[in-house]
Amino acid sequence: MTHHPEQRGFTVWFTGLSGAGKSTIAEMLYHELKARGMKTEILDGDEVRKNLSKGLGFSKEDRDTNILRIGYVAQLLTRNGVATICCPISPYRETRDRVRTMIGEFVEVYVYATVEEIAAHRDPKGLYKKALAGELTGFTGVDDPYEPPLAPELVIDTMNETPRESLQHVLDTLANLGYIQDPTILVEGPKLHSGLTDLRVTETGHVAEGR
Ligand code: ADX
Repeated sequence: MTHHPEQRGFTVWFTGLSGAGKSTIAEMLYHELKARGMKTEILDGDEVRKNLSKGLGFSKEDRDTNILRIGYVAQLLTRNGVATICCPISPYRETRDRVRTMIGEFVEVYVYATVEEIAAHRDPKGLYKKALAGELTGFTGVDDPYEPPLAPELVIDTMNETPRESLQHVLDTLANLGYIQDPTILVEGPKLHSGLTDLRVTETGHVAEGR
């Protein structure tokens, strides 16, 4: 295996509606980068809101604070050579552009799916149902804004692509930008699903369940 003494840091920033598939693709990407021997971290919206952003709500101000905190940590990691993956909704274009400028080595991936599709087929927490019924207000995509990126490095359409196809597009993009050498999917098998904590990469670069 070729050794790369100084890994070049970058941030892959997944943006899109809740339930669009950000965390799923982010996790698959995480395992791909690990399998390449890269230093990798994930900053997931739902996770960050339990620690770094604990206590923040969903007003524009609080969402922006959340995004700028995630962006700040991503900046520190990126400049230390870490392949950093962020996947908060990040609904505001201007705020995403601010973190793009802060981080520099920034790959914005718009994870696209419509509210109709997500509400009908992927609403495990029942949040869309509540929001569409007016029982929950200020929900992104229902009665709170989502501003799609105008010039993302990549758009993935999770209504028409399998997760594996989306992952392939991300890897191709990273290879084209020179952040990875080989875009071939290394981690195979049926164990690619959301729920980062019960997955691990084996010595052979495969994903296995359990710690
Ligand atoms: S962001 O807007 O600040 O980027 P973030 O990704 O951290 O959002 O958190 C989104 C998650 O919070 C959603 O996946 C959902 O589970 C939950 N959530 C709770 N209330 C809302 C809301 N009003 N709008 C969007 N997501 C919400």
